Amino acid sequence: MTRVAVFGMGYVGCVTAACLARDGHEIVGVDVDAAKVDRINRGDPPVSEPGLAEILGQVVKQGRLRATTNVNEAIDGTSLALIAVGTPSTDSGAANTEHVERVVQSIGSRLRAAPRDYTVVMRSTLLTGILEDRLVPILDAAAGPEARARIRVCNNPEFLRESSAIRDYDQPPFIVVGAQNAAEAQLVFDLYEGIEAERIVTTTRTAALVKYACNAFHALKVAFANEIGALAGSLAADGHEVMRLVCRDTKLNISTAYLRPGFAFGGSCLPKDLRALVRHAAESSLQLPLLPAVLASNECQLRRAVRLIEQSGKRRVGLVGLSFKANTDDLRESPQVMLAEILHGRGFELRIFDPNIQLTRLHGRNLAYVDQHLPHLAKLLIDSPEELCGHSELLVLGTDVADGFDWKGTSHARILDLRHDLAMPTVR
Ligand SMILES: NC(=O)c1ccc[n+]([C@@H]2O[C@H](COP(=O)([O-])OP(=O)(O)OC[C@H]3O[C@@H](n4cnc5c(N)ncnc54)[C@H](O)[C@@H]3O)[C@@H](O)[C@H]2O)c1
Repeated sequence: MTRVAVFGMGYVGCVTAACLARDGHEIVGVDVDAAKVDRINRGDPPVSEPGLAEILGQVVKQGRLRATTNVNEAIDGTSLALIAVGTPSTDSGAANTEHVERVVQSIGSRLRAAPRDYTVVMRSTLLTGILEDRLVPILDAAAGPEARARIRVCNNPEFLRESSAIRDYDQPPFIVVGAQNAAEAQLVFDLYEGIEAERIVTTTRTAALVKYACNAFHALKVAFANEIGALAGSLAADGHEVMRLVCRDTKLNISTAYLRPGFAFGGSCLPKDLRALVRHAAESSLQLPLLPAVLASNECQLRRAVRLIEQSGKRRVGLVGLSFKANTDDLRESPQVMLAEILHGRGFELRIFDPNIQLTRLHGRNLAYVDQHLPHLAKLLIDSPEELCGHSELLVLGTDVADGFDWKGTSHARILDLRHDLAMPTVR
């Protein structure tokens, strides 16, 4: 059993407080709104959520949940604070952090007076960096070094949805805790002992962004389904049936396929088919901003790679992989070809290794594509990985043809792995 102060008695705070109390913990809910506090103490939920009234009424009657406006009293009687105050949008679109700042400040000040072990868990949704760069310094200053040394700071993003919040609380997709180490994370997992879900410990930075990525993904899915629906309408097809069938493919569609950050997409189908949809939408005066934005986003990814290569300061570049993916010699709309073209055009001393590309065996559309887009291809292609290593100050690993060869062991060149590094803070 943990004694917990839950800050913020809104949708998330009320549900969390009631469920934690139901599961055997002793909870003090804290809110600046005295009317909400009064309602909770009467067992009357201040927010409407199916099933909440029953749980809240029961735990308040049993004395396992009470609420207060008195921060100090709440902190004194607990060993862990879950912060679930609001983080609404400001006019600029950024999250308003004034409420979380005030809570962290008051926790720090109170513990300064009487230092003891205490855990602060951020449940509110905050963009990566706000906890680490804004709130932790506030806590440091408020608590002072002695008390601060005994305060652990974690985050534990919330994935529940209003209207099914209690079910979501009881059956989360996973429980993610951002923490310094597994022991600190365990203090948070202990709160959810009876809940069957995978436990994941990661950094606070990653945990915070997982929450935003999930919500962005949900929003993207809704917008995608709506645009496909609108297209279907204009093409006399049944959009519901189209999306039902799209979702039936759990190998490539509703799956982890295509969901790793890497390099740009390309090949003979994805760009071409997207363009055809965009073209049809324009001809039909359909407003579908998402689909063309996908093509624009892909261009940005290509430019990001060029920028990283330029920023490396290296001029002798070896590109591994020229076709759009491993085990094909299809060069049509390969982003690696576009990258090679840009680098060559900007005066890099470029050499390319791709075991699937042998000029003598290219023919038809493929050869025409090479002629049109990379006429200097023959001069740039190199036959062996060793030769590429010998040439290069920077090795750019473009596709999975890079697998199966020890680039690090063979070369002193710096390595930029486009399949990985564009999603990392630093370049290897
Ligand atoms: N609502 C959701 O479905 C949902 C789901 C997941 C995550 N979240 C995130 O959880 C957080 C809370 O969302 P919510 O919808 O429950 O917010 P809410 O607006 O319903 O409730 C926030 C509560 O915090 C209180 N509060 C403000 N300042 C306070 C302070 N200094 N001390 C104590 N209480 C204070 C307010 O009076 C209010 O009762 C947000 O960051 C939100 O993005 C919300």
